[in-house]
Amino acid sequence: MCGIVGYTGKLQAQPFLLQGLAALEYRGYDSAGIEVLSPDGSLHGVKCQGRVATLTQRCQTANLVGTSGIAHTRWATHGAPSDRNAHPHVDCSGRIAIVHNGIIENFRELRAQLIASGHEFKSETDSEVIAHLIEDSWNGPAKGDLLEAVRIAVSRCEGSWALAVLCADAPGQVVCARRRSPLVIATTPDGCYAASDITALAGKAKSVIQLDDGQLAVLNPQGTCSVFDEDGNLVAEPTTMTIDWDASAATLGGYPDFMAKEIAEQPEAIRRLLKDRLGKHGIELDELTMTDEELASIDKVYVVACGTSYHVGLITRDFIENWAKVPVVVEQASELNYKQSVLVTDHTLCVIITQSGETADTLTAARRLRGLGCKVFAITNVLGSTAARESDGTLYIKAGPEVCVCSTKAYTAQMVGAAFLALRLALAKGKMTQAEIEKKYHQLEEVPGLIEKVLGRSWQDKEASRVFRRAHSSLFLGRGVNSTTAAEGALKLKEISYLHAEAYAAGEMKHGPIALLEPGFPVVAIVPQDHVHDKTISNIQECIARGATVVGVATDGDEDVAPLCSNVLWIPPVPDEFLVPLVAVVHLQMLARYVALDRGYDVDKPRNLAKSVTVE
Ligand code: G6P
Repeated sequence: MCGIVGYTGKLQAQPFLLQGLAALEYRGYDSAGIEVLSPDGSLHGVKCQGRVATLTQRCQTANLVGTSGIAHTRWATHGAPSDRNAHPHVDCSGRIAIVHNGIIENFRELRAQLIASGHEFKSETDSEVIAHLIEDSWNGPAKGDLLEAVRIAVSRCEGSWALAVLCADAPGQVVCARRRSPLVIATTPDGCYAASDITALAGKAKSVIQLDDGQLAVLNPQGTCSVFDEDGNLVAEPTTMTIDWDASAATLGGYPDFMAKEIAEQPEAIRRLLKDRLGKHGIELDELTMTDEELASIDKVYVVACGTSYHVGLITRDFIENWAKVPVVVEQASELNYKQSVLVTDHTLCVIITQSGETADTLTAARRLRGLGCKVFAITNVLGSTAARESDGTLYIKAGPEVCVCSTKAYTAQMVGAAFLALRLALAKGKMTQAEIEKKYHQLEEVPGLIEKVLGRSWQDKEASRVFRRAHSSLFLGRGVNSTTAAEGALKLKEISYLHAEAYAAGEMKHGPIALLEPGFPVVAIVPQDHVHDKTISNIQECIARGATVVGVATDGDEDVAPLCSNVLWIPPVPDEFLVPLVAVVHLQMLARYVALDRGYDVDKPRNLAKSVTVE
């Protein structure tokens, strides 16, 4: 979380810095700030609590002139969201400014040392120590060499950082450093651009330099960049990555918000992913980088993920256990990381699912499982992300940039990726025949068309959103694979409408949540035509008997459901009940969006959340 950008070159810095921040705002929007080196040789900046739009307005009057600068959009960890805690932070002299994404874990001890030696702090953040550490090394052993000053400063830090540093006494230079938090750099004839991720650099270059852990970079106004390792040695061939999508992919393109756009993009994303997958291995999944023998020997799968991706993990378990007959453990990454015992076999495969590829908890969990001897397979949406770089194999879901903080298209595309893995395993383990896998693939091919039908029924979600107008809480129920659909529906509603929503396995409701029910209490029941349909109907009856208002998600033509519900969100018949979550969830995404809009909220940037959670 937090987004950083930097620029040095021929152009004025402010336009790119503000535009880059706007592109990175999904990483946090508690405060924003910018610092530019003015032609008079001093640093000038503006920073404020709130959104990039507020900063942009302030900059109109501040008139920041200069061709090098840095900027930041914050998701608060240490210190409340406030003007004072907004980045950039400067040293005592006001001549060194930094922006930081990450956490300096030993900041308390460093801060105490720095205060004892006379430094004065202006904020409550962990990040400010970096500015003062650089000041110390600049005036001391680095002897006025900014790269060396930053290198020495970060060598005293523990934790994670993506840093950009501007110094009034090293005009034209921007120095960057990275450890665990991502940072990419574009070199162009107009100068060098740095950013937390490529969304801010779209349209600037076709390929970018990706700093590796521990590396530093010096960006020069001529558009050249030198990369160094943590000992200060020049890196001859820095890691580079090609940007494979165009800038328009991260713009609204006529949609009212990114959530609407990304919901609508789901059919295309799935079609793209399904292309050219059928082959002699059933599903071709070279990305796994495992032989048939290795796959056949897998006797346990550990899936770790967070948030919406964790829900994909739950579905992954259903796919793998039912199709490949391999036992699966699904853990929230933040839980796995501090479990006292994690039980793996000699042939356990670790699967990490992460849209951004940068979620700190997920990366830590993957490292732990790898340390226990597991091969790590990543399902991610971001090319070149840390998850991809640290895994033995990676499936890119290619859903295109997901800008809205709550995940929609990555959810369904990641599920398709999970189906590929389950089917590939099923063939290798002899649990499904080639013909059965082909059938399943063709069923998956039907999914985009089914989602398109649901998209055409958004009016049903808009009408159903009225049920939530006076609600203070709500319950989402489903059985089997659709207990996960219920969980994802409830998460979507909570995330963007700030309305409490609890998801429960429908049959388990009678053991507690049923006590919540009273007249008018909204219950969303996912009740497609499947082998537990009648059981779920009974649970709906139990809700109605207590006066609840039920919104059903049901299959076209289901005459049992309609009379029980105030509203029905209809889905077309789905050829395999395991694939229903891919279709049914689309209604719940649209429902959550309408409830949030009805309440007047910004669906793309819900309060307190960030899209890329790079702290534990
Ligand atoms: C944050 C986002 C969620 C996302 C979760 C995991 O909490 O707000 O939308 O599901 O992180 O992110 P990942 O990138 O690992 O899938």
